[in-house]
Amino acid sequence: MIIAIDGPAAAGKGELTRRLAAHFDLARLDTGLLYRAVGWRVLAEGRDPADVAAAVAAAKTLIPAHLDEPELRTEAAGSAASKVAAIPAVRAALLDFQRDFAARPPLGKTGAILDGRDIGTVICPDAPVKLFLTARPEIRAERRAKELQAKGTEAIGSAVLRDMMERDARDRERSVAPLEPAQDAFVLDTSDMDADAVFAAALDYISRKFV
Ligand code: DC
Repeated sequence: MIIAIDGPAAAGKGELTRRLAAHFDLARLDTGLLYRAVGWRVLAEGRDPADVAAAVAAAKTLIPAHLDEPELRTEAAGSAASKVAAIPAVRAALLDFQRDFAARPPLGKTGAILDGRDIGTVICPDAPVKLFLTARPEIRAERRAKELQAKGTEAIGSAVLRDMMERDARDRERSVAPLEPAQDAFVLDTSDMDADAVFAAALDYISRKFV
């Protein structure tokens, strides 16, 4: 079983992925973390995330321990991630790891769930289940601002919205693996749904698919 979850930031991918992974006992990979780790390493070296040589070197030398840094959850890491993610050689360097994870899930699991921007289109185009979550930008910015505030980070809604629109545009308009639903993805607008309703809709879709 392979489940692909894609969509823009704060559409509800992380929570849905965690719940589906627990429900179906799947190995889970948050692929955004890979790009965040690359972006963060470039920033830590004092380099620009758009610097191709620095970003490619960071991607090629990425090891699992780099994924544990708490700073990867910051908005600075998210923005740097979106910049390194537009570089084709960075995406190429991270491809095998993601495909291997889906083909041979770790921890003795018999299936995997991956979430990101290009899972259904590029990483696992043959995944039997593809979900694309989306939501209105204002709602996503409000959710992200609340998440940040809950972690004690000061967050102003309008600034979060501006940064998110900028990141969405970069992710959608890049030339390689742009953010878009796969043709056979189930698209779910979560604007007016809570996490329970999103999980129920996903389970309903999956059960209908396998009848
Ligand atoms: O899901 P996230 O916010 O952690 O992702 C951070 C950035 O990484 C996102 O703006 C674009 C990039 N990304 C990507 O290009 N492809 C993926 N599969 C996952 C993330």
